[in-house]
Amino acid sequence: MDEYKKLILANKAWVKDKLDVREDFFLRIADDQTPAFLWIGCSDSRVPAEDITGTEPGELFVHRNIANQIIHTDFNMLSVLQYAIEVLKVKHVIVCGHYGCGGIKNALSNKHLGLINKWLRNIKDVYRLHKRELEGINDQNTRHRRLVELNVEEQVWKLAETSFVQHAWHKEQRPILHGWVYDLHTGYINDLFMLTPDTRMDDIYRFEFDD
Ligand code: CO
Repeated sequence: MDEYKKLILANKAWVKDKLDVREDFFLRIADDQTPAFLWIGCSDSRVPAEDITGTEPGELFVHRNIANQIIHTDFNMLSVLQYAIEVLKVKHVIVCGHYGCGGIKNALSNKHLGLINKWLRNIKDVYRLHKRELEGINDQNTRHRRLVELNVEEQVWKLAETSFVQHAWHKEQRPILHGWVYDLHTGYINDLFMLTPDTRMDDIYRFEFDD
């Protein structure tokens, strides 16, 4: 019942640790943030962005949702993306999925889950796009892992299809878009995929800018 209290206690210990190392730790970071990275990851409790990348407060701008989706009608994600690119001027945008992702597992099933069906439907679209490759994989676990990877790759392409990313590519030759997969069993990140500002995408997704 009172298990939440351990979080408050841990917070006090964390503040003490930080101040022991640097007296001005909080004063130094309280005024402003200049993170170089936008992290878009899964909400899964086992994939804490800062812990697995060894980053400190101020280094990562973070957005997390189930199965790290880029959905072009999601104003939450789009607001985070626009702010990160246009105001914070991040140099890298990282989409980090993870093997063993429950969102991907459920999308691969025919379970009816209520509202979340609508969210997972986007992953079913990724499956359909890569159906031939995925159905050529007999082992269930290997197929799941491959869909995790393909999902990350598709989300990175979806980032590239936004006007925010394309405009920043056009004007400032940034950010670099990354697709990573974290392995729950080993703790390592698989650096899978990257799109640079000179990427030529399918013409239908390309915007022309006057400035
Ligand atoms: Co997940």
